[in-house]
Amino acid sequence: MKKIEAFIRHEAFEPIRTELLEQGFPSLSISEVKGSGRQKGVVETYRGSTLTVNVRPKLKIECVVEDKDKGLVVETILKHARTGEVGDGKIFVIPVEEAIRIRTGEGGEPVLQTHEESEGPK
Ligand SMILES: Nc1ncnc2c1ncn2[C@@H]1O[C@H](COP(=O)(O)OP(=O)(O)OP(=O)(O)O)[C@@H](O)[C@H]1O
Ligand SMILES: [Mg+2]
Repeated sequence: MKKIEAFIRHEAFEPIRTELLEQGFPSLSISEVKGSGRQKGVVETYRGSTLTVNVRPKLKIECVVEDKDKGLVVETILKHARTGEVGDGKIFVIPVEEAIRIRTGEGGEPVLQTHEESEGPK
């Protein structure tokens, strides 16, 4: 199992979400984060004085999938998150040791994503 952790621009989320849903990957988490890449900071002028904004807002997507689905999820994120400008973000792929559905106690790859009809509110 792998966790795909992607730092993206906010605008990229909806198209990524839509396509992941269509492909059978409904399960993910998002959070608002602030961070910096290799540019470190952006110099801005505010009321005549310059200041460096060290961190900028990004959206973090976390999506845990079977090893075989890693490529598809990464490609989907790349497709919608890339504008070609600096600050497009970054994707990390992290090994995941175990996944457990709390409701049932079941574990392993079957708990990750559904490729079938949803059973109701999650
Ligand atoms: N090595 C890292 N560790 C943790 N978070 C990171 C790392 N690199 C980037 N991020 C996160 O990703 C966001 C976007 O990074 P960014 O796209 O600016 O990377 P970059 O390496 O500077 O590439 P670019 O040159 O395209 O801007 C950062 O604001 C930060 O939240
Ligand atoms: Mg950058």
